[in-house]
Amino acid sequence: MDDRIASAREALGRDCVVLGHHYQRDEVIRFADFRGDSYKLAQLAAAAAGKYIVFCGVHFMAESADILSHAGQSTILPDLNAGCSMADMAEITQVEDCWEHLVAAGLTNDAGEGITPITYMNSTAAIKAFCGERGGVVCTSSNAGAAFKWGFAKNSKVLFLPDQHLGRNSGYAMGIPLNEMVVWDPYLINGGLTPERLKTARIILWKGHCSVHQRFLPEHVDNVRSKYPDIRVIVHPECRWEVCQRADGIGSTEGLLKMIRTAPAGTMFAVGTEIHLVNRMGKEFATEAKRVITLDDSGCLCTTMFRISPQHLCWALENLVDGNVVNRIKVKDDVKHWARVALDRMLEIQ
Ligand code: 13P
Ligand code: SF4
Repeated sequence: MDDRIASAREALGRDCVVLGHHYQRDEVIRFADFRGDSYKLAQLAAAAAGKYIVFCGVHFMAESADILSHAGQSTILPDLNAGCSMADMAEITQVEDCWEHLVAAGLTNDAGEGITPITYMNSTAAIKAFCGERGGVVCTSSNAGAAFKWGFAKNSKVLFLPDQHLGRNSGYAMGIPLNEMVVWDPYLINGGLTPERLKTARIILWKGHCSVHQRFLPEHVDNVRSKYPDIRVIVHPECRWEVCQRADGIGSTEGLLKMIRTAPAGTMFAVGTEIHLVNRMGKEFATEAKRVITLDDSGCLCTTMFRISPQHLCWALENLVDGNVVNRIKVKDDVKHWARVALDRMLEIQ
């Protein structure tokens, strides 16, 4: 399989760039021309020159790459089943219903004068377009703080989609107390909120989460600290607020890597993020005498990232060699326009 992937890759040469998210398994990530977090991969997709962008990541990342790519380029997701359960927690019709409610409550108008909608990269292109059209923006875990600052410069309220944890952690980091945040539950009437609560809230968080990161609990931090008193605990901001509060550092996947890279030799880390990345960190940093363990022994993998297998990558690349573009991710033109506006704003405010 490795030989077949390598020879297809060679045959495609500069026509093709393979982008790999840090959560990809070793057998796949080794073929990536570039690795990164969502932000870095979006930048790389926007700058890519070849005809084909093969995205070893999940659906919303490939959609964003397609939106940011140039005319004549195709973005390919080796397995179309590689979605994201968090992105699935916000459907565009639910978001439209929520907004309609906020407009009816007199908290904003349709142009977004009143509330700035901010969506995490982990959302559909339709939701990115929704935010773009209403004066909002996209953010990733590496620039959520800057996006919140930008949003609050426009309005006194922010609607944050779809990850309640990233929204809560980012808002709290900029000094907004928890009692000024509310959670909108799309499965409850009026989001489960009284008009009074909505009026006084500064941040309206969508009730979504990542099942991989929400598994980490405060007691995991306490346990690892009691076992290894000098350990540094670093976590992804998709973890619960209670976990992030106990951690020594919070960062995107790229940010977590940087924290370990820049630490003195001999440092030990417990990392709260997806297991393939943590295991790879363990192997790569062992050569620098740094020990990396997972924050929770039963930490689970991102099953959708894991969908991208060497077999799927091989199949996609060999088809490209034969001139067949398989599994192309193509965002509709009407959605593309406003989604691009929201993504361009994100790339500008970093
Ligand atoms: P990063 O942007 O930090 O890589 O996060 C993407 C993601 O999906 C984490 O679950
Ligand atoms: Fe989505 Fe969570 Fe997987 Fe990231 S780790 S892609 S948020 S399911």
